[in-house]
Amino acid sequence: MSVPEQEQKKLEPLTSTYNVEPWEYLERVRGAGELVWDEAVGGYLVTSYDLMKEIGRGDDDVWRTPFVPDEEHPPFGLPTDKWIAYHGSPFSLLLMEGPQHDVIHRWWMHAFSSPRVLERWPEALIRPVALDQIERFGERGRAELVADFADPVSARVIAAILGLPWEDQPFVEQLMEMTDRPLALVQKAAEQGVAPDLVDEALATTAKLRETLRPFVLARRSGEGDDFISMIWRDAEVLFGDDYRDEDVVGVAQLAFLAGAGTTSYGIANGLYLLMTQPELQEELRRGGTRAVRAFVEESLRLFGPVVFRGRRALRDTVVAGQPIKRGDAVFMLSTAGSRDPAHFECPADVRLDRPAPRDHFSFGFSGSPRTCAGQGLARLELEQIFAVVVERLRDLRLDPDAPPPVYTEVLQRRWAPLHALFTVAA
Ligand code: HEM
Repeated sequence: MSVPEQEQKKLEPLTSTYNVEPWEYLERVRGAGELVWDEAVGGYLVTSYDLMKEIGRGDDDVWRTPFVPDEEHPPFGLPTDKWIAYHGSPFSLLLMEGPQHDVIHRWWMHAFSSPRVLERWPEALIRPVALDQIERFGERGRAELVADFADPVSARVIAAILGLPWEDQPFVEQLMEMTDRPLALVQKAAEQGVAPDLVDEALATTAKLRETLRPFVLARRSGEGDDFISMIWRDAEVLFGDDYRDEDVVGVAQLAFLAGAGTTSYGIANGLYLLMTQPELQEELRRGGTRAVRAFVEESLRLFGPVVFRGRRALRDTVVAGQPIKRGDAVFMLSTAGSRDPAHFECPADVRLDRPAPRDHFSFGFSGSPRTCAGQGLARLELEQIFAVVVERLRDLRLDPDAPPPVYTEVLQRRWAPLHALFTVAA
């Protein structure tokens, strides 16, 4: 038996990292090779930056992403018609592949980087939400920043961007509850396999979410507003062709809400954790202004990207790192291992606000792939504004030594929680 094979035999499965920090485990897998079989997850783990990039470049040609309908490997075991019904429309980016996907993906990327958005959303929609949220607990000098800040801020911001009544707390709370079952479905499937009761609950919840969104979507039909729903209506023919239905517009709004609320909340929580465990960063961000905050956001995503790994299935026989891969085989790209690969990053575990290519990490997917996060422009805009507000308003931010410490939760979408914090509020 060769040395890498012996190493592979000794490895615990990826799922053994549930609720524990995975850094030592990731280094052990890396030590066993670039491509390591994991019996428990039924696929190869990809550990190197270079190999992730290579696989990413083959997306939609050699590889299929996990949510694209696939008769042989149906997402969550659902038949295609039910899976499309889950999304409310066949035009959900997650379901599409090929040239039509690419047109819609480009539209999303432009939507979140248009001059109108960059000019208006930060001051009108994002900063006010973050400031208002701090107002609610600031005077107490203590808070649990996941429940009191990260979750509500990300839900309220995405609501504001969709043109929904973000100041209506019960309404936003209702929306937040509707992200819970779809996320639980994905998390549990990664940890223990598909749970049929969660599939049913997630189907029912997404139907309810679309019911809730529909009146707001229909009210924006003129396409005249600055919000994301109006933007969808304005370009509906580009997105869906001439023959589209109201449901297609509702489906895009659902995807934006579900893809954007949880991930961003996790990104906020992980950045707050970094600020509290390396408190010298707080002053560095204050001194360095926008440039430093931007670099911090990228470093925080690189070190603690909310989505720790992403799967792919081979669309045809291929060879990866010298290993023959059969059509239908699965690979799991350990994005966080790629973003901390010592062969690519100097001092990979350190926060460095002066890295030469700050966006060079895999938190939003794999550079060169057509499937990178379509909302990354918005995610960056949000995180930059939110951390600017945090360091501006909260001083001497630290973990409460008398409260339960944070745990690096789950196995797939991961954040530090709870974040019991102490601070003073700037005058
Ligand atoms: C910190 C926040 C976020 C993180 C870490 C994140 C991460 C990701 C990741 C890892 C993927 C899959 C990439 C792949 O498989 O290669 C993805 C896809 C996607 N994300 Fe995000 N995301 C974030 C925020 C958002 C927001 C705010 C939106 C929209 C409002 C969004 C919309 C999407 C969509 C539509 C896709 C599917 C892209 C496709 O399949 O073509 N995301 N995201």
